[in-house]
Amino acid sequence: MNILQAQAFFDGASATLSGAKVVHSRKKLKELPGVFADSGAFARMDPETVVYEVDAHQEGEAQEGGLLFGISHVHPGKVGDEFFMTKGHYHALRNRAEYYWGLGGEGLLLLMQEDRSVRVERVCPGSLHYIPGNVAHRLVNTGLETLHVGACWPSDAGHDYQAITDAGFPARVVEKDGRAVVI
Ligand code: F6R
Ligand code: ZN
Repeated sequence: MNILQAQAFFDGASATLSGAKVVHSRKKLKELPGVFADSGAFARMDPETVVYEVDAHQEGEAQEGGLLFGISHVHPGKVGDEFFMTKGHYHALRNRAEYYWGLGGEGLLLLMQEDRSVRVERVCPGSLHYIPGNVAHRLVNTGLETLHVGACWPSDAGHDYQAITDAGFPARVVEKDGRAVVI
């Protein structure tokens, strides 16, 4: 019997994912209007600035019981005093859960229930985060290096960004006196 090569390779030291079925995407500042509080600072920044990137291994079509594996790379930076972060989302199929784990850099994970109550977990190399269904999630890079975070989630979960676009998260992470604080 033939022994096959793996479909993809994950290098934990450099937090990189490679392989034919790995899809890379980038989110630039110009794709995040209204996400950061300081619209004046946002308007003064280069709209081509890459805020975060995602590598995702997609094996087959989205289906019940399927899984996706990815790495999010949130670059260091701020808009005004607010740290770079992901757009944040609920899963379109609301009851789908997800695991995140810290691979490099430092940051925070904002977790919001549908009643808008928020929990914040510190993300660092080795940290493991269980995101239950019905919980919106957003990564914030509070450090000076890129924040690398692994993720595994159901392939039929989908993304619902609308609820976040409409009402945002009730908590923001800003730099105050050289420290990251949640306000
Ligand atoms: C998948 C997931 C991550 C995020 C990624 C980018 O369910 O949670 O792969 O998609 O961190 O964040 P968003 O999707 O909020 O732009
Ligand atoms: Zn998700």
